[in-house]
Amino acid sequence: MNILAVGDIVASAGCGFLRERLPKLKKNENIDLVIANGENSADGNGITPVSADFLLNSGVDVITLGNHAFRRKEIYDVLDKSECIIRPANYPQKTTPGKGYMIYDMGRVQVAVINLLGCMYLNPLDDPYTVIDGILEKIDTKMIILDFHAEATAEKMAMAYYLDGKVSAVFGTHTHVQTSDERILPKGTGYITDVGMTGPYESVLGIRPDIAVRKFRDKLPVKFETADGKCRLDCIKFTIDDKSGKTIALKRMEIL
Ligand SMILES: [Fe+2]
Ligand SMILES: [Fe+2]
Repeated sequence: MNILAVGDIVASAGCGFLRERLPKLKKNENIDLVIANGENSADGNGITPVSADFLLNSGVDVITLGNHAFRRKEIYDVLDKSECIIRPANYPQKTTPGKGYMIYDMGRVQVAVINLLGCMYLNPLDDPYTVIDGILEKIDTKMIILDFHAEATAEKMAMAYYLDGKVSAVFGTHTHVQTSDERILPKGTGYITDVGMTGPYESVLGIRPDIAVRKFRDKLPVKFETADGKCRLDCIKFTIDDKSGKTIALKRMEIL
């Protein structure tokens, strides 16, 4: 089975580019399931019902989120109802809208998709190790994919080694910069520290460079605006053995 993981999709520019490129990519790479991080898919950050629908109508099967998951209140009801949008599982259990993992039924096989938020340089939530241990106990499939939305390389890598042999693949999101360290860990878990971004490339993580410069140079609040110009779709294909649930091949891509 081929699973495509797509990096943080930024604003309408990134959403539009995804819609343009994804159908051909799915066909060329024989993709069975698309998981995309949508935490920045709305203009002005976060995710809205409109941007979520746009992604799901563009060929995305499962949307994962991150530290911007709850920026837009209008998505809360959708998170509670949707079968295919998940938010980090380690937010407070009782009070947070939505759910932290889902099972995608593909007929011959079921794929579990889990979303977690890292604790380094982000809001310290529930311990991601305890939370994923609890989820793995409940899941009854060998095909398990984790989007670990985290800032620190070491935190993502350590989690991947912890899960090696227990899940099919771990991909990192949040930094918006694709890393070139994709690999299959010793016990068969596919891994990349960060899958990257889908959005305008001539930018600072999707934001207009002049605005980012003003923020860092002048230390005054700024209003973020998405950059213009050419986009890029950063993604990785995990080829996973249906029976063992192990990754047998990886292909990291930057689609221009
Ligand atoms: Fe992001
Ligand atoms: Fe993020």
